[in-house]
Formats: sequence, structure tokens, C-alpha cells
Amino acid sequence: MDDSTSVLTRQGADDPLTQPSQGKSPYDAYVHASVLSTLQHPLTEAPDEMGFIVTTQVMELWFTLIVHEWRMAGKAFANDNLDAAMDALVRSRRALTALNAAWAPLAALTPAQFNGFRAAFGKASGFQSATYRHMEFLLGDKSASMLRLHQGDPALHAALSETHRAPSLYDEVLGFLHRQGLPVPDHVRERDVTAPYSGDPGVVEVWRRIYATPQHHPLLALGERLTDIAELVLRWRFDHIMVVRRAMGTKSGSVGSTGLAWLEKRAARPVFPELWEVRGGV
Ligand code: HEM
Repeated sequence: MDDSTSVLTRQGADDPLTQPSQGKSPYDAYVHASVLSTLQHPLTEAPDEMGFIVTTQVMELWFTLIVHEWRMAGKAFANDNLDAAMDALVRSRRALTALNAAWAPLAALTPAQFNGFRAAFGKASGFQSATYRHMEFLLGDKSASMLRLHQGDPALHAALSETHRAPSLYDEVLGFLHRQGLPVPDHVRERDVTAPYSGDPGVVEVWRRIYATPQHHPLLALGERLTDIAELVLRWRFDHIMVVRRAMGTKSGSVGSTGLAWLEKRAARPVFPELWEVRGGV
């Protein structure tokens, strides 16, 4: 046994690695793992329910990180700090990739497996996820009715109202592009930011000018990072639809929606619409 092996296998009371900590370990005090692992409460004995709860919670955590990064990016654009904004967008792209990979445990749930616990959670639905709604509002997809849904929970409603009232990440991008000398129309910059944004021909023209620049232009790189994000958001929606189609077919949703048909309509909602439209005109 060489020296390094003996250090790794030493288990005596003098091993500094295994000295007891005073109270919680520094790890637990920092990441609250012991709190996290008390938050899974299956309501049935169905073998797939634990995976359903954990996957949903993991996605909620990724939503939290993505919201955080998009807020950081929005602030950086407001300060005309493109480097900091791009760093936050890249971090959010990695988080979105991880979010989408998190579908795996639910990807092949059969109707019988899903039925094993579906009735137990009653009217609970991801539709009621406030953090998902923060994400949509940050993308510019504002909705007063989605905000109203949370009126019964004042703290949560106040936080979501703030995101509803504030300029979206995309509004901050357009403000930044305007200050860079690009012709973002006044009626876009001065619009009511609580209304959903569905695109403007003047903004398509802004992106057309950017996409006509050399390949490594920093604003073109910005357009590509935003397109990555839009694509990953759309992929999340499509993966959700595939999971729903496999697990429940055309049955109605938990909150009384038409299920698949409703989700297909929602999935078609635009994410940074001009960045897709511009590709047809370059
Ligand atoms: C077996 C797995 C799942 C099924 C069958 C399912 C089904 C559905 C259905 C039918 C809806 C439409 C609203 C309703 O009537 O309930 C919905 C919405 C939604 N679900 Fe899921 N879901 C699943 C997993 C998840 C997971 C893991 C998440 C992650 C948090 C999630 C997040 C959402 C969100 C955010 C919406 C609202 C979408 C929007 O507003 O456009 N779902 N889901």
C-alpha cells in the first residue's frame, strides 16, 4: 500500500476528514440538503410518484436559477454592460439545457403508471407554477389573467406583480440596442410593458441590420444567444407535450383545460419573435 492509498483508507479517530462538526455540517448549513430531502411527500404507494415529485421540484429549482440569470442579464443591459449580460445569458442557456434533460424520469410514463397517483394530487398543476410565470413574463409574454391566478397568495402575487410591471428581459435588450444607435421604433420602446409582446416590423429591421454584420460582431452573438434561449424554451414546451401525450393522451388537464390541445396552443406562443422572422429576410 503506497502513502496516498493509506491516507484515503485511514479510518482512525485521528482522521481529520471524518472529525464531527459542531451541529450541522458546513455543507448542510450552506446548501440545506437536509431541508430539501424532507420536501418529498408522495400521497400514494404508486412506484412512479416519487420520481414525479422530485422531477417537478428539480424543474422548479432550474426555473429559479433561470429567473435569477435573466434578471442579472436585464440589469446588465440596462447598464449597457454587454459582457456581463452575455455571461448571464450563457449561464441561463446551460441551466435551460439541464432543465430540459430533467424530463428523463417522466419521459416514458404510461397512462397506468400516471393513473397510479394522478387522482391523489387533484387539481394541482404546473399551470400554477409562479416561477414558470416569472420566466414567461421575463420573456415578454405578460398576462394579467395568469397574474390574477395567484391573488390568493399575497407574497407570491406581489413578487409576480413586480415582474409583470417591470420591463422584460427582451425590453431591456431593445433599450440597449436603441442606445447602441439602432432604430428601435419609439412606439416599441414607449409601449405599455404590462401588455404581451408579439413582435414589430421595426424590430425585425433592427435584427436584419445586425444579422447583415460580419459573423463575429458582438450584437450578432447577442442575437444568437437569445435564439439559443428561445429554442430551449420551445424545446421544453415540446418535451412537456410529448410527456403529456404518452402519460394521458387526450384526457383533460388537472385544472380543467383541454390538456394536449391547450398545451399545443400555448407552445405556439412566440419567444423573441423577430429573431425567427429575421432569418427569412437575410
Ligand atoms: C406526467 C407528467 C405531466 C403531465 C401529464 C402534465 C400535464 C399538464 C397539463 C395537462 C397541463 C395543462 C394545464 C392543466 O389543465 O393542468 C400542464 C401545464 C403545465 N405543466 Fe405539466 N404535466 C406534467 C409534468 C410537468 C412537470 C414535471 C412540470 C414542471 C414544473 C410541468 C409544468 C407545467 C407548466 C409550467 C404548465 C403550464 C404551461 C403554460 O402555462 O403554458 N408539468 N401540464
